[in-house]
Amino acid sequence: MAPSLLRIVLALAVKPFLTASEITLDLSNWIGQLAPVIGNATLLDLSLPGAHDAMTYDLSTSISDGYEGIGPVLSRILHGVTPILAGHFVRQHGQTQGISIIDMLNAGIRFIDFRIMYSQAPGRKTGHKDWYCLHGCQTVHRAAEYLRPVRAWLDRHPKEVVVFWASRHGDYGATGTDQYPDTEPAQRQAFFQEVQAVFGGLLFDSRKGRLNETSLAELWRRNERLVWYAADFVESTNSSFRALDARSIINRLPGGGWKTTAMRLLSNGSAELHAARSQDRFLLMSMAQSAEIWYIEKAAEITFLPNVFGSQERLARRCAALFEIPNMTSWCPPALMDLSLLSNYYNQRVLEAAFRQGASDSSVDFPHAIYIDAIDHGGLIRTDGYAYAPTLVAANVRRLCRRVASPPAACAGLQAAVEAARTEHPVRLWEDAEHGRHVDWPPMPPSSGWKQQQQQEQEQQQQPAQQQQHQQQ
Ligand SMILES: *[C@@H]1O[C@H](CO)[C@@H](O)[C@H](O)[C@H]1NC(C)=O
Ligand SMILES: *[C@@H]1O[C@H](CO)[C@@H](O)[C@H](O)[C@H]1NC(C)=O
Ligand SMILES: *[C@@H]1O[C@H](CO)[C@@H](O)[C@H](O)[C@H]1NC(C)=O
Ligand SMILES: *[C@@H]1O[C@H](CO)[C@@H](O)[C@H](O)[C@H]1NC(C)=O
Ligand SMILES: *[C@@H]1O[C@H](CO)[C@@H](O)[C@H](O)[C@H]1NC(C)=O
Repeated sequence: MAPSLLRIVLALAVKPFLTASEITLDLSNWIGQLAPVIGNATLLDLSLPGAHDAMTYDLSTSISDGYEGIGPVLSRILHGVTPILAGHFVRQHGQTQGISIIDMLNAGIRFIDFRIMYSQAPGRKTGHKDWYCLHGCQTVHRAAEYLRPVRAWLDRHPKEVVVFWASRHGDYGATGTDQYPDTEPAQRQAFFQEVQAVFGGLLFDSRKGRLNETSLAELWRRNERLVWYAADFVESTNSSFRALDARSIINRLPGGGWKTTAMRLLSNGSAELHAARSQDRFLLMSMAQSAEIWYIEKAAEITFLPNVFGSQERLARRCAALFEIPNMTSWCPPALMDLSLLSNYYNQRVLEAAFRQGASDSSVDFPHAIYIDAIDHGGLIRTDGYAYAPTLVAANVRRLCRRVASPPAACAGLQAAVEAARTEHPVRLWEDAEHGRHVDWPPMPPSSGWKQQQQQEQEQQQQPAQQQQHQQQ
C-alpha cells in the first residue's frame, strides 16, 4: 500500500474518535443520549416534553358518551342540527393535536395525556361498549389499539421511558363513577388488563421501590420503561403494582398563551420540582389553552345560528372581545386548533424566557412534564415552529451537568447538540393584531435580560436581510 493511501486509511479510521464529542440531538432517543451524564438520576430529576389531549389527532365525528363541557346553550344549538353537523363541529372543537402518537414519541414527547371513556363504537347508539379515547368526540379506534404501536416503539428505543396519565377528562382526583360515569369496576379493570397485556413487564413495578428512589439506570436494567398513572387507581387497576395512583400527580393549570401566568411557576421551578420529588409526586404543568365554554358557544352561534343572534361579523366581534387581546377585535378563532396556535405563539416566549433565565439563575426551571397543544414533527410546537422538545431536553442537560462538580466531558458535546437544535427553530414574533399576534405585548414577568437579548438578535438578523420579518399568521 502506498504510504499516502495508508495515511488516508488511517485518517479515516481515527476520525470517529476525534469527532466522538460531536453529537446531533436525536429526539427519538434523547433519554438514551443523556446516559453519559445521567449518573444516578431518577425519572423525577427530568423534565419531559408532553402532549395535551394527545389522542385528539384521530377523533371520529361521533360525540362521546362521556363528553363533558357541553352547557345548556351549546346543547340546545347542537340538538337543532343533524348529528353529522354537530359531530363535525364538536370534532373541530376537540382536536388539539395533528400528528400521531408515534410521531410524537419520535419528536421527543415522553408524557402522554391519555383520555379514555367507555362507550359504543363510533356511529353506534347500541351494542357492545369498549374503551375509546375522547375529547368531545371519541377516537376512530379503541384506546388499546393505539397502545400496541407504542409497545413496538419502546422495543425499538431501548432507553426511552414514557409516562402515561389515563383519565376521562384530566381529573386526577375523582374516583369511581365520578371519574368514569356509568361504568363498573370490572369494566374499568378489563381495560387495565388490556394495558398490561400490551406492555407486560415494561410497566414500572412499584413493589421494587419508589419512582423517586429508582435511578434511570436501574429502570433500564429492569427494562421497566412505561409509567402508567391511573385515575381511579384503586378500582380501575385493582391497586395494581404495575400502575401508580394519579393522585400523586400535582397538576398545575396556569393555562397557556398570553396570560403568561406559567412564568410564575417556572420562576420557582427548581424548588417546586425538588419538593415534588421528595414526596414521590409528579409535578405537571399545562400550557394548553383550555377551550372555555363561552368560546365554543360563540363559535357555535357563528356556525349554526348567524341570523338568530346577529350578523356573523357582529358575533365575531363579540367573540373576539372576550379574549381581551389588544386590537384583536373581529376575529373569532374558527376551531380549537386555531386557538391552540394563538396560545402557542405566546407559549414560545414564556418557554424561551424561562430557559434563558435558568442559564444564570438555577432556581428558574421546568417541572417534571409540561403538556401542550399542537405538537409538530421535530419536537416543535406549531406557531411558526418553535423548538419545544429541544428546549426541554436542553434544560435536562443543563440540570444534570450542574449536579456534578466537574462535569464529564460528555456535557460539552451534549450542550452543543441541544443548542444547535434550538438555534434552528428560535422564537419568532410578528405583528398581526387582527389575529391577536403582537411583538411587544404582553410584558414578560419578571423582568430579565431576555428581551434585550432578543432585540439584539433581531437587529443582527435585520442588518443583512430585511425579509426576516415574519408577517404570517
Ligand atoms: C444519588 O447519589 C446521591 C449522592 O451520592 C445520593 O444523595 C442520592 O440519594 C442518590 N440517588 C439515588 C436515586 O440513588
Ligand atoms: C384484586 O387484587 C386482590 C389482591 O391483589 C386479588 O386478591 C383480587 O382477586 C383482585 N380482584 C380482581 C377482580 O382481580
Ligand atoms: C417555591 O417552591 C417551594 C416548594 O414548593 C415553596 O415552598 C415556596 O413557597 C415557593 N416559593 C414561591 C415564592 O412561590
Ligand atoms: C421519595 O418519596 C418518599 C415518599 O414521599 C419520601 O419519604 C422519600 O424521602 C423520597 N426520597 C427521596 C430520595 O427524595
Ligand atoms: C393597538 O392599537 C392602538 C391604536 O392603533 C395602538 O396605539 C396600540 O399600540 C395597539 N396595541 C398593541 C398592543 O399593539
